[in-house]
Amino acid sequence: MESDKKIAVVDFGGQYAHLIASRVRRLGAYTEILSNEDSIEQFKNYAGIIFSGGPSSVYEKDSPKIDPEILNLGIPVLGICYGHQLSTLLMGGKVENSGNAEYGPANIEIKNPKKYEISRGLSNLEKVWMSHGDEVRKLPEGFEVYGSSDSCEFAFVGDDKRKIYGIQFHPEVTHTTHGNILLSNFIRICSVEHSWSVDQFIEREIKIIQEHVSPERKVFLLVSGGVDSTVAYLLLAKALGADRVRGLLVDTGFMRKNEVTDLKLNLKKLGFDLTVRDESEAFYNALVGKVDPEEKRMIVGNLFLDAQARAVSELNLNPKEWLLGQGTIYPDTIESGGTKHSHKIKTHHNRVPAIQALIESGEIIEPLRDLYKDEVRELGTKLGLPSEWTERHPFPGPGLVVRMIATKKDIEANLENEIQSYLQKFNSKIQTRLLPFPSVGVQGDQRTYANCLVLNDFTEDWELLDKIATDATNKFRSINRVVFLPGEINLPVKYLFTELHLNRELSDLLREADSTVFSILHNRNIHNEIWQMPVVMVPCGREVDQFSIVLRPVESNEAMTANFYRMDRAVLNKMKHSIRSISGISDVFFDLTNKPPGTIEWE
Ligand code: XMP
Repeated sequence: MESDKKIAVVDFGGQYAHLIASRVRRLGAYTEILSNEDSIEQFKNYAGIIFSGGPSSVYEKDSPKIDPEILNLGIPVLGICYGHQLSTLLMGGKVENSGNAEYGPANIEIKNPKKYEISRGLSNLEKVWMSHGDEVRKLPEGFEVYGSSDSCEFAFVGDDKRKIYGIQFHPEVTHTTHGNILLSNFIRICSVEHSWSVDQFIEREIKIIQEHVSPERKVFLLVSGGVDSTVAYLLLAKALGADRVRGLLVDTGFMRKNEVTDLKLNLKKLGFDLTVRDESEAFYNALVGKVDPEEKRMIVGNLFLDAQARAVSELNLNPKEWLLGQGTIYPDTIESGGTKHSHKIKTHHNRVPAIQALIESGEIIEPLRDLYKDEVRELGTKLGLPSEWTERHPFPGPGLVVRMIATKKDIEANLENEIQSYLQKFNSKIQTRLLPFPSVGVQGDQRTYANCLVLNDFTEDWELLDKIATDATNKFRSINRVVFLPGEINLPVKYLFTELHLNRELSDLLREADSTVFSILHNRNIHNEIWQMPVVMVPCGREVDQFSIVLRPVESNEAMTANFYRMDRAVLNKMKHSIRSISGISDVFFDLTNKPPGTIEWE
């Protein structure tokens, strides 16, 4: 593609650069991620430049900067959050710590949306998503304020003559209701409408695959049964011919109930040449006593590789003839800190060092590496995959390993009391407890391990619960998750910690709970309203040797941000009763945390 048809998204760290890039692509303009250290020459031929958000402060010594010349190229620039602050600083404005970090929804008032192309189509009051600790305090010369919020005067600014714009909120997340309008306006300003589609991707990627895999070689693909690896298989088969692609499914012992049997049947129907290996014993043995999420992921990743190596040798596949294929998609790359500045948010099992080494030696092929989930689904449909497949909820590669929580944390009684008194302002019937293990979250682009707060069931008002969960996580940085206990007006005095082992017996228990939940979702026909629904086993209960289950249904587009799903109370009640009838399960919690500050998975 000619570079003057592309928009460059400059990565200043954090997860947002790729999310912006993906959003802009969905709006029909091709994007590429560039580093802030790339040369001015490289930027020159782009039609537009977006400066992404990032976790640093512009006034910190080592924060990522960029050559100020970039603002004199005559190319339209949109600065978002950190990018807005940086461009302001480079042009002579001022940025300071706001003294009042803001994470969450906000309203901005736009004075005259019709006046400029960048704000055309927006309304006078726009709901946006803020996530920042610093803010612009003085604008550079030539800049005008287009929109402000109560707590942020320079929320939306621009110099329309130079086509340089800055916004403090995040237009790329779905919580910003009309973020797409703003980004489309920028695309129009750059004149790159209609430069990208999944059809164009298919054409381009097929050529790349054919060049990468020389005619005498074939691809051996690790299949998980999820949408990604299935679509990767179909694309590879389309590019190389089905006889040059072969699949391996490793049964890790942490798959869902009946998943392996169902997959085997279904994949065969689709014409897969599939080998299934039961490696569950090896996985259970290696995970005995392991509690740390990153360690669990590393173990799973390495065992996958071992299993693959054994399969290759048993199947007598000559490594000179075969390459390794994977269905890795873009978010897997981003969230492992795959780009230069993003903090290491997590290591995905398919990005462990051994795999990384294969990637670097060119021995691996990942045809979906540039795509987001929604693009993969669209690609799957175009390649003929039936909707039951393309609509499957995403399932993490390490499977139930990340949904069995084994870590312990002492409860801070003072904190528990402090939170309970603070929340009385919402409702005097509120009761709170802390859970005896850490929960994981993302706060301000950094991964955090903090406390999980439990609320009693004092209201059926989801909006109020959302408000309380947001407020509690904003007010108390040591809380990154809030759950409630459906149907219980009184909370138990204390939750007791129980050691949880990642073995067959307990994974069977979780499989049972998970399958109960999914059959209810399908029966009630609400599976497609939910983007993903981890069913998580946690190491506590009202009595010793009991575990509990957390339900975590979310609405999301690319897993970068998420809202908890407001489940119909009758359905929730049914789930709770069915799960509690499984022996060994104490309580059923429902997760009220959005992402950020919580992650989707519990780990
Ligand atoms: P989080 O929990 O970070 O998850 O909000 C975002 C998306 O990534 C999936 N996920 C994983 N996928 N290996 C994977 O292949 C992993 O280790 C992993 N952890 C999280 C998660 O299911 C969600 O869709």
